Amino acid sequence: MSKKILILPGDHIGPEIMAEAVKVLERVDSLYSLDLQLDHALLGGAALDATGVPLPPETLAKAREADAILLGAVGGPEWDKVEAARRPEKGLLGLRSELELFGNLRPALLYPQLAAASSLKPELVAGLDILIVRELTGGIYFGEPRGIRTLENGERQGYNTYVYSESEIRRIGHLAFSLARQRDKRVCSVDKSNVLEVTVLWREIMEEVAKDYPDVTLSHMYVDNAAMQLVRAPKQFDVLVTGNMFGDILSDAAAMLTGSIGMLPSASLDKDGRGMYEPCHGSAPDIAGQGIANPLATILSVAMMLRYTLDKPEAAAAIEAAVSDVLDQGLRTADICAEGDTRVSTSEMGDAVLRALQS
Ligand code: IPM
Ligand code: MG
Repeated sequence: MSKKILILPGDHIGPEIMAEAVKVLERVDSLYSLDLQLDHALLGGAALDATGVPLPPETLAKAREADAILLGAVGGPEWDKVEAARRPEKGLLGLRSELELFGNLRPALLYPQLAAASSLKPELVAGLDILIVRELTGGIYFGEPRGIRTLENGERQGYNTYVYSESEIRRIGHLAFSLARQRDKRVCSVDKSNVLEVTVLWREIMEEVAKDYPDVTLSHMYVDNAAMQLVRAPKQFDVLVTGNMFGDILSDAAAMLTGSIGMLPSASLDKDGRGMYEPCHGSAPDIAGQGIANPLATILSVAMMLRYTLDKPEAAAAIEAAVSDVLDQGLRTADICAEGDTRVSTSEMGDAVLRALQS
């Protein structure tokens, strides 16, 4: 049966990296007879400029229909002055929330060919393979009430609400534990339960969920310590599970361990495994239009889509092998290029992956 894939290129380097990922997607579609139907829509700043809102109803309708969504990146300084409710990021957050994509998988995997590009010493990161499981539709990102109010003394006060219900914690817990089962069977839950009640509950529910997975080991860590441990001895972790904001921050730190955030894909899944796939990096306005962005995170997001939503693990593995192959050939975009490497453009990198897929 044919599967619908919605393509949302987004802003700045978004369309550049997406063009390469779509080339790869179309190639695996024909190599593996996947019968995919690709459609496009606007999201973020591009949507705001064209329609006045960052998540147009047409995009949301197409997103609801799609089996999977492939997203580039949204945002940029030209929309900094737009009011909070219509910012490009709201388009992304709205999509996550409307589609209930609560489970965000952010693997931090070091390709051995890139060990020298890591900000840590090669011996600290050699063989690194962490999976951050970030809760994506709750926590302080979505808690109400929120806003900026004026107090009686005339001073303004900004406020947000950090809330998690038991069911929200439980479902992300189950996702993390079931993923750990396919890996090294260790889950570290990250919280701030020495200060925040919401994460006291988080810790309690994680303990409860753990009982269903006697073969998986659960540990707990405060978020400040987790940030330190990630840059001190990152290989101690297998699966990290945490809330929305802590996950946002820790996943950027983990990304740098692997050499470049330009290498990291992500998946955002709903309870049925439908998902949105996107690189972990942003829209990089500073390098847009120069053809130098690294398309590999988006290409690897296609691999995650094949694995988690389309259930085509052999096609996913073929893409991952092709990426490894081009790195073996010494081909590098600017962000991961060191002395002795061959520097290639965004589209040359995409073409190299296509060639490696073919062989
Ligand atoms: C991410 C990004 C988003 C987030 C922004 C663009 C809203 O940083 O996906 O990590 O904070 O979730
Ligand atoms: Mg982030």
